[in-house]
Amino acid sequence: MDNYNEELGLRIPEHVAIIMDGNGRWAKAHLVPRNMGHSAGSKVVEQICEDAYNIGIKYLTVYAFSTENWKRSSEEVGALMLLLRNYLKDCIKRANSNNMRVIVIGDKSGLSDDIVETIQHLEEVTKDNTGLTFVIALNYGGRDELLRAMKKIGADIQNGSLSPDAITEQLISDYLDTRGIPDPDLLIRTSGEQRLSNFLPWQLAYTEFYFPEVLWPDFNKDELIKAVKKYNSRERRFGGRKEE
Ligand code: IPE
Ligand code: IPE
Ligand code: MG
Repeated sequence: MDNYNEELGLRIPEHVAIIMDGNGRWAKAHLVPRNMGHSAGSKVVEQICEDAYNIGIKYLTVYAFSTENWKRSSEEVGALMLLLRNYLKDCIKRANSNNMRVIVIGDKSGLSDDIVETIQHLEEVTKDNTGLTFVIALNYGGRDELLRAMKKIGADIQNGSLSPDAITEQLISDYLDTRGIPDPDLLIRTSGEQRLSNFLPWQLAYTEFYFPEVLWPDFNKDELIKAVKKYNSRERRFGGRKEE
């Protein structure tokens, strides 16, 4: 459910999802190595979490590393994992001072043990925080998430704890990594690309999409408000019809 921000005069989407794209192009434009684009991008994530919560957003989901991103050079993947390790450790401190609850979605079995441990710790120590719910998609692929859910459903049918008749849309949602999290109201993909790249295909079925040209490391609070304004100009119908 949207809430209303009096000061901005805007309806605020409850859940915003972001495909943070354009770090590489930003680095190229600044004549610096790609890794510097990624580290500039990770700083922006920290700031956007605060800005999002301050304007009234309750859930923020960011695409940090896809199941397809392993195709990048080992040098780039290594740099991203190092950045991630540092980011997650730092996030533990920030999350508690900002009352932020952190949830990681994606296939954890594909991540190194130390990263998985840090994630478990981060989720555990922030689970009772009541501010922003910050969802990080890590080694996440939407088709992979559906595949893992289907395997679990199959296993539960086989062991007798689930009957095929009990499968509903809600039950499928409950088998996904995003269980308990409302579907995103607004999706933002920076850098002008207009595709999902395997991000939340089930959850984005009725989400409003916005594709600004800005590269992720240049994204800021003004850009976020611009996105929310765009969202306010859309009419969400959910298949129904507005009464004349
Ligand atoms: C997004 O930036 C960050 C990740 C995918 C980890 P890119 O690295 O995809 O940046 P571009 O698309 O090459 O500019
Ligand atoms: C999507 O961006 C993944 C993340 C932002 C983590 P990519 O840059 O990897 O997507 P493609 O390759 O352009 O589709
Ligand atoms: Mg990209």
